[in-house]
Amino acid sequence: MAFVTRQFVRSVSSSSTAAATAKKIMVKHVTVIGGGLMGAGIAQVAAATGHRVVLVDQSDDILAKSTKGIEESLKKVAKKKFADNPKASDEFVQKTLGNLSTSTDAAAVVHSTDLVVEAIVENLKVKNELFQRLDKFAAEHTIFASNTSSLQITSIANATTRQDRFAGLHFFNPVPLMKLVEVIKTPMTSQKTFESLVDFTKTLGKHPVSCKDTPGFIVNRLLVPYLMEAVRLYERGDASKEDIDTAMKLGAGYPMGPFELIDYVGLDTTKFIIEGWHEMDSQNPLFQPCPSLDKLVAEKKLGKKTGEGYYKYK
Ligand SMILES: NC(=O)c1ccc[n+]([C@@H]2O[C@H](COP(=O)([O-])OP(=O)(O)OC[C@H]3O[C@@H](n4cnc5c(N)ncnc54)[C@H](O)[C@@H]3O)[C@@H](O)[C@H]2O)c1
Repeated sequence: MAFVTRQFVRSVSSSSTAAATAKKIMVKHVTVIGGGLMGAGIAQVAAATGHRVVLVDQSDDILAKSTKGIEESLKKVAKKKFADNPKASDEFVQKTLGNLSTSTDAAAVVHSTDLVVEAIVENLKVKNELFQRLDKFAAEHTIFASNTSSLQITSIANATTRQDRFAGLHFFNPVPLMKLVEVIKTPMTSQKTFESLVDFTKTLGKHPVSCKDTPGFIVNRLLVPYLMEAVRLYERGDASKEDIDTAMKLGAGYPMGPFELIDYVGLDTTKFIIEGWHEMDSQNPLFQPCPSLDKLVAEKKLGKKTGEGYYKYK
């Protein structure tokens, strides 16, 4: 396996001159798979910046909910952006919605897309099945990107035959507000793919940073162990959830405390991230699961997405 990777790296670097001169892809048409918290935000921002976007999910009901959420969010953005011009505000909302369409059949829409951004459930098997299928239907030039928070990009890319056109594109929640995108380059991602994605994130008005395919990339590698340590502090009875949040806001200058942040990220997402890292490296003390978090997720108490919050949980 390592040999295959080395061979691939060698062949990529030996053709580096060709790669440098190869034309970057100007992304105009984007397919976003998954219309949940992240996918809806990514679709909104891409459509608002003039890209043609197809948003894909499993049912028309989910897509109707996503589109409604996007419209409401757009109205808020437009109200701020065109504070003194209601006509321009309406036009912005209508134009953006005009750039957006929906589908329940990813395979049927990817033939004409420049970029597929996947934001479905955080499960390697499900992501692999999706990309393996789309690989057969997408155009040759199409770049695939995953928004995964915790899985190895390489292990998703390996489900396809286009490892050179595969990378991580890690957005932050809420997507319309958060400026950062981590662009993840695996040893097999071509320079052309990487640069095309960096350019794409800039057209979205985002700030790209680059990171290797390492657990948690930059932000989550620092953030998730911090969130888990807050849960452990509370589990041990050392301090209340409210005091921990207040302490980090007033003492460390963070805009939100760790429990407020877990509500935003989703208790389930946080649990899956730590579980995945624990599987990869069970000895790492930063990657240990928390029993109280596991219990809440088993009870379907997930934070904002289920309409409550950590302060109410026992
Ligand atoms: N929540 C966050 O703060 C955050 C931040 C960055 C990245 N991420 C990552 O983004 C991804 C999505 O997270 P989310 O919070 O938006 O999840 P979510 O549960 O809100 O949305 C996931 C959506 O994907 C749909 N879906 C599932 N399987 C599908 C399939 N095979 N085909 C089409 N649609 C499918 C679901 O119906 C759902 O609407 C995950 O990989 C997560 O790790 C999440």
